[in-house]
Amino acid sequence: MSRLPLSALLVDDDEDFRSSLAMLVARDGFAVREAGSLAEARARLEEAPADLVLADLLLPDGEGLDLLRDADPERVGELILITGNASVESAVSALRQGVLDYFTKPVDRVRLKSILANVARTRSLKEEVRSLRTELRELGRFGAMVGRSPVMQRVYDLVERVAPTEAGVMISGESGTGKELVAETIHRLSRRRERPFVAVNAGALAPGIVESELFGHERGAFTGAERTRRGLFEGADGGTLFLDEVTEMPAELQVKLLRALESGSLQRVGSSETIAVDVRVLAATNRDPEQAVKQGLLREDLFYRLNVFPIAMPPLRERGDDIELLAGHFLAAVNEREATEKHWSPAALRRLRALTWPGNVRELKNLVERAAIMADDVIGEDLVPCAAGAVSPAGEEIRVRVGTPLADSERRLILATLAQTGGDKRRAAEILGISVKTIYNRLSVYEAAATPAGREGDR
Ligand SMILES: Nc1ncnc2c1ncn2[C@@H]1O[C@H](COP(=O)(O)OP(=O)(O)OP(=O)(O)O)[C@@H](O)[C@H]1O
Ligand SMILES: [Mg+2]
Repeated sequence: MSRLPLSALLVDDDEDFRSSLAMLVARDGFAVREAGSLAEARARLEEAPADLVLADLLLPDGEGLDLLRDADPERVGELILITGNASVESAVSALRQGVLDYFTKPVDRVRLKSILANVARTRSLKEEVRSLRTELRELGRFGAMVGRSPVMQRVYDLVERVAPTEAGVMISGESGTGKELVAETIHRLSRRRERPFVAVNAGALAPGIVESELFGHERGAFTGAERTRRGLFEGADGGTLFLDEVTEMPAELQVKLLRALESGSLQRVGSSETIAVDVRVLAATNRDPEQAVKQGLLREDLFYRLNVFPIAMPPLRERGDDIELLAGHFLAAVNEREATEKHWSPAALRRLRALTWPGNVRELKNLVERAAIMADDVIGEDLVPCAAGAVSPAGEEIRVRVGTPLADSERRLILATLAQTGGDKRRAAEILGISVKTIYNRLSVYEAAATPAGREGDR
């Protein structure tokens, strides 16, 4: 990172200790200032803010922690506490109040070095998030997310706040609102960004294999387990695990998941060996999470763990001008890919605004792709369905002759409904009054039937 050196303020009444610490911190590239008391520290911070304040827990005129409470928060970048061995416990409680870290006297140089490196990382993350924010104001986007409506700005604020932390996040919202995109953005703005982002769709996995998919298995754990395999959870070590459709996860597995999160370790199926894993979990659901808890779909203890930080994605129909912005964004992507220069007619854009978008951003994206293929230069209103037309669930129809086998009619109905929802399985399941799992099961049957060689293994 090429920027001015980070600045540090050391606050301790023990002068000898302070100057030896100053040497160590300066050696790591910080511009160092010193203070012998809280009052002096406040005066120094008034003169100029500090990226990092290292303060003794107990000072002649108060506690180091007071700086976090009384001093101008803008002027205290990160606070790290120094403590004698006896007071480690109070230092730990300080962590919960927003202190970045703490260390004990005498200074362990290796630990100090890693803490200081962490400060630089945290500061640069926060800086990046801040510059994303400026970008947002100018262009109406935040990372890969497009939109400048007030409801989306609120989402960006939440993402900005939670990304650099280790907190669990529960992202809720209708299908196609961008829940996975938000999860990816949080990961990209977190300390874990260099490590994997692993997405698991609990609804799409067959109940029998979810556990081994998630936690891995030992060779011979069950019939067919020919080799030892790492699970997705282990694969996300050091990174982020995105649990999509978390309410579809079997209850016993929710218990195991919670245990793994709380202990920071897991056991593969068929093994008693404990493996340490360091994973941050982000979860998503199309349901109202609290309702899902009441219905017994989501375990309450897991809910509390994930719901440390809830983010509710607004439906597209509540995002006003974002519809045009997104339509332009998706068309620009098509133009780029196809080397074309197609554009929207004003009437077509007006029509987009009038639709209700049950499939949200995904539906809009699909519509843009289709319309761009059909249009020559200008995308006219004829390529956008009317507000009361094909997009509403009651729109299209399929004809079935009396005497058609039930399985055939069912197949056509399911596929037609999926086509109408833009491939959104949850929404199709809702319309048809069946479970999402049934949709997945049917689709795998249709897929197998379409493969000439027949079934290629149970999936
Ligand atoms: N604000 C946005 N800006 C640009 N693209 C978006 C935005 N929101 C969603 N998308 C795009 O729309 C599509 C659907 O988004 P995503 O898969 O994140 O939705 P989802 O809420 O997870 O849907 P589901 O509930 O069906 O899983 C993706 O292609 C995504 O990149
Ligand atoms: Mg999704």
